[in-house]
Formats: sequence, C-alpha cells, structure tokens
Amino acid sequence: MRKSVILIVSVMMLLPWSLAANAAENGVSISLEHISVNLHDTKAIRRGAKLYATYCMACHTMKYLRYNKLAQQEGVLYSKMPIDQKEWTYPTPPPDLTLIANVRGADWLYNYLHSFYQDSKSASGSNNLLVPNSSMPNILQGLQGTQVLVNGHVRGYSKPSFSKPHWFDRLKLESQGSMTPQQYNQATKDLVSFLVYASDPHRIQRQHIGYWVIVFLIILAALLFFLKKEYWRDIK
Ligand code: HEC
Repeated sequence: MRKSVILIVSVMMLLPWSLAANAAENGVSISLEHISVNLHDTKAIRRGAKLYATYCMACHTMKYLRYNKLAQQEGVLYSKMPIDQKEWTYPTPPPDLTLIANVRGADWLYNYLHSFYQDSKSASGSNNLLVPNSSMPNILQGLQGTQVLVNGHVRGYSKPSFSKPHWFDRLKLESQGSMTPQQYNQATKDLVSFLVYASDPHRIQRQHIGYWVIVFLIILAALLFFLKKEYWRDIK
C-alpha cells in the first residue's frame, strides 16, 4: 500500500516536467497580433474584395456569398470561382472562404497572411507558422517579399497578448516585395476586412435596424405608460 502511494505521488510530481519537456520539443507558441476591423470603412472592404478577386479566387470559392453588389463590382463573381473543380493537386483542397472569418477570426487570418516563410523541406517551397506544412503556396510573396524563420521553430498560437512572441519575432523579411511592410499590412488588413464583411454582409444594416427598434420600444413604453395612467385615473 505504502509503495503504491509513493509511486503515484512520484508520477504526479514528474508529470509537469514531462509536459514541459514535450512543449519545448514542439517549440513555443506565438501570440496573435490584434487588428481592428472597421465594417463602416467601405473603401477598405472594396480594396480587399479587389485583392481577393486578384490573388485568392483562382483557388478559393466564396459560393455561399449571396448576390452582393459590392463584391461583384470588385470582380468577386461566381463565374470566376473554381466552383466545379473537384480535383486538386494539393493534399488538402483549398476551402471555401465565405465563412472563414467566423471560423478563424480576423486576427488569425491577418496573422496567417503574415506568417509564410521559405522552407526548402516543404513541397510548395514555403511553410506557415499558424498552419505547419500548409499546402497553400505563398501567394502574396510577390507583394510581401521573402521571409525566413529565425529563433527556432514554432508550434501553436494563442490569443493576442503582449508577453509572448509574435510572428514578427520569429520571421525576418529577407528581401522586400513590391510593397513596403506598411503597405503590406494595410493590404492584408483590407483583405481580412473583406473576409469579415463577406461572412455576414448584412451585419451593419442589422445593427442599424436594431437601434431603431430600441427607439421604437422606448417610445411605445412611454405611450403605454401614459395610457395606463389615463385608464386608471377614475378607478382610484
Ligand atoms: C494556388 C492556390 C491558392 C491560392 C491562390 C490561395 N490559396 Fe488559400 N489555400 C490553398 C490551399 C491548398 C489551402 C489548404 C491548406 C492546408 O490546409 O494545408 C488553403 C487554405 C487557406 C486558408 C485556410 C487555412 C486554415 O487552415 O483554416 C485560408 C484562410 C486561405 N487559404 C486564405 C487565402 C487567401 C486570403 C488567399 C489570397 C490572398 C489565398 N488563400 C490564395 C490554396 C490557395
């Protein structure tokens, strides 16, 4: 009995050590850089839609986006999407991106588009901090430039925080693309704004209607209050 208690206690004491060793083996996690998306900024959303039509639509569909004037005007058209393509050479086929902003969130998408780096061991020649061995090629390399990994490898990510390393602590821009880092930040922010917009195009209108509904309810409550007073006046 005593022996087994000692065994259990020693296993429990060793467990955190083995977990820590495991974490070290898998590398440290990075923290997501936070961006704020302004859905009232139609110009940014339009710029993002244009970037999406130019750089993403060859592989990714957005087939659940119902008829949408803004997207269509910027070239996001069903006829240009690979809707009927069933076979892909990539191990993982490119997913539909209509709802990706709901699934991953704006911060994740922004960090994903910054986290591609050169990796000669990978089939596509590049890799990504957030999706290790991603089969998506580094599509925006021409704009962003070439990044290389510094400070070892990274596994996993966590919510925005100031303490942990970010993608830019792990990656170094070796040669700049056609955009400056500031321009690239803006372009990817625009692109993410469009993806957030596309996941729920009527969000702004819905919020707007919500305000009027609340104003209506307040007026109605006031009217009912006076009506009640009027009815009860003679009863007391
Ligand atoms: C040449 C084809 C191709 C192009 C162009 C392309 N992608 Fe991809 N994308 C892929 C493939 C393949 C995957 C699946 C990767 C995987 O999971 O291994 C993918 C996955 C993704 C994912 C999902 C990642 C995840 O795990 O949730 C996002 C987001 C994404 N792409 C965004 C974009 C954006 C934004 C653009 C335009 C700037 C773009 N892609 C252009 C092929 C492409």
